[in-house]
Amino acid sequence: MKMRKFCLLGSFCLFLATICSAASPKKIRSGEIWPDNHGVHINAHGGGMLYHDGVYYWYGENKSDTTSNAMVGIMCYSSSNLTDWKNEGVALSVVKDDENSDIVPGCIMERPKVIYNAKTSKFVMWFHLELKGKGYEAARSAVAVADCPTGPFQYIRSERINAGKLPFDMTAAQRAELDTLDADKYQEWWTPAWHEAIHKGLFVKRDLPGGQMARDMQLFVDDDGKAYHIYSSEDNLTLQIAELSEDFLSHTGKYVRVAPVGHNEAPALFKTSEGTYWMITSGCTGWAPNEARMFSAPSIWGPWTQHPNPCRGPKSEITFGGQSTYVLPMPGKKDAFIFMADIWRPKHPSDARYIWLPVQFEQGIPYVEWMDSWSLDFFDKK
Ligand code: GAL
Repeated sequence: MKMRKFCLLGSFCLFLATICSAASPKKIRSGEIWPDNHGVHINAHGGGMLYHDGVYYWYGENKSDTTSNAMVGIMCYSSSNLTDWKNEGVALSVVKDDENSDIVPGCIMERPKVIYNAKTSKFVMWFHLELKGKGYEAARSAVAVADCPTGPFQYIRSERINAGKLPFDMTAAQRAELDTLDADKYQEWWTPAWHEAIHKGLFVKRDLPGGQMARDMQLFVDDDGKAYHIYSSEDNLTLQIAELSEDFLSHTGKYVRVAPVGHNEAPALFKTSEGTYWMITSGCTGWAPNEARMFSAPSIWGPWTQHPNPCRGPKSEITFGGQSTYVLPMPGKKDAFIFMADIWRPKHPSDARYIWLPVQFEQGIPYVEWMDSWSLDFFDKK
């Protein structure tokens, strides 16, 4: 109850702040330093947004000056206008006093996303977790929950996804064929035979007992309130889209594979008013930028069709130097979206920058054009 009062008070203060600063909207300048209310560059990388009760909450990875490993945890910032950000502190902290915790300092906590569950009135966070000292081999997803959008989030658990389950759209014939695939025959990667075997689900089969791998990730809540987890799986070779349970705290076992052997990461989903699902992704080149990809589908379950690179303008062949992290639908505006990406700085991780650009449409197909600066009234001029 106390928590709820704090939440309400916080929202009210932000509301007052908006009224007082209702001037023309500030410019958004991608790639520059974005100071928070203390004048410090926002530290919320690989992030995502939650719009709740008139307030935007930005969750992201806290990065330190010398390492991308998690030394602090997941940050939360709040804003009523998307340009003035208040540092709300650490929403989910690393655990310093229990060496058996999954989230000890030095682990890897990436691409956190938070969604609100209207049935349970809880805020649910999922993120990509790698265990300390194990590189990227754990490939787990972790979940945490809170009563208030700013946290503190309570860590629940980490796991691989949907152990024992095959994609629900695999036909009986495909399942039978997968049964006969012999992993020993495909030790060497990238041969035509290996490619075909992966396409058929060789790594899905390999990971059946412990669950599917999950690294770069996204959450998406559909109009009917159902939530989905989208993640790079199968050694980053194939994306999977999995349904979350009603309370958003686990997976139902229902999932599909998208673009098998397509090597997609950094998925960012959005849905247009006529019901098409769009997804912007990147290739897999670590912290180095590459050319964005885009897919569309008439249903979250597919079929997903690939389109050309949606980026236009200088450095459009490397996503303007960034990598997708989220696409924010503008509340109350039809088909108005902001494409969000990270410009990584692996040698000075905390200095990584942000790219925010409006999504535009040409004959119903989204594209993202570089702009040195723009403001949110762009969406009113359409
Ligand atoms: C990127 C990925 C990031 C991070 C990085 C580590 O490809 O999108 O989230 O995992 O690799 O090298």
